[in-house]
Amino acid sequence: MSNTFRIGVLGSGKGSNFVAIADAVTAGIIPAEIAIVLSDVADAGILAHARERKLPAQFITPGKFRTKLDEDAERAFVAALQQARVDLVVLAGFMRVLKGDFLRAFEGRIVNIHPSLLPCFPGLQSWKQALDHGVKIAGCTVHFVDAGVDAGPIIGQQSVPVLDNDTPESLHQRIHAAEHDLYPKCVAAFAKKEISVAGRRVFWKKS
Ligand code: GRF
Repeated sequence: MSNTFRIGVLGSGKGSNFVAIADAVTAGIIPAEIAIVLSDVADAGILAHARERKLPAQFITPGKFRTKLDEDAERAFVAALQQARVDLVVLAGFMRVLKGDFLRAFEGRIVNIHPSLLPCFPGLQSWKQALDHGVKIAGCTVHFVDAGVDAGPIIGQQSVPVLDNDTPESLHQRIHAAEHDLYPKCVAAFAKKEISVAGRRVFWKKS
């Protein structure tokens, strides 16, 4: 059996971060393979992108809640990821909060990207929160996932300027472009074991 590093990706939306990561895998920038792509939304773009690339992609019904998975769904997601023998779970626009059993199954091996410079503006529409607050610098954050919302140790951040004529949409677009640069770098560093964690602090070994 090959010992290639295996990534599982979860997303609910259009999947542009997934595409950036998949392209980085294909280019050899991330030394890994994408073992499975899962979504809680049957017609999510991320599943279509995965299938175009002939990667295993699966919709799993999320159950009765709006912002989390119900127990059966949580079990099904964990089972699919375990069957695919993933080393890292990459959340790429997955719109549900993960709870205890899921977090325990992949402790220290779940990462997320958030469209703000955390700890500023957790939650929804962070780019709008940033604009409304009047900050001059916005950006994105890749972090480990813990039981909090957008709260785990920070792996990497990338800033973008806020311009005087920005609308929520234009700022969102600039942040999104920064995400596509940052996320593959962070996933590559994790796959290459260049990342170590001490409490809340994450250190990058020089490669
Ligand atoms: C990104 O903005 C990410 O920060 C947030 O969800 C969005 C996903 O976008 N968590 P996409 O589906 O990768 O295009």
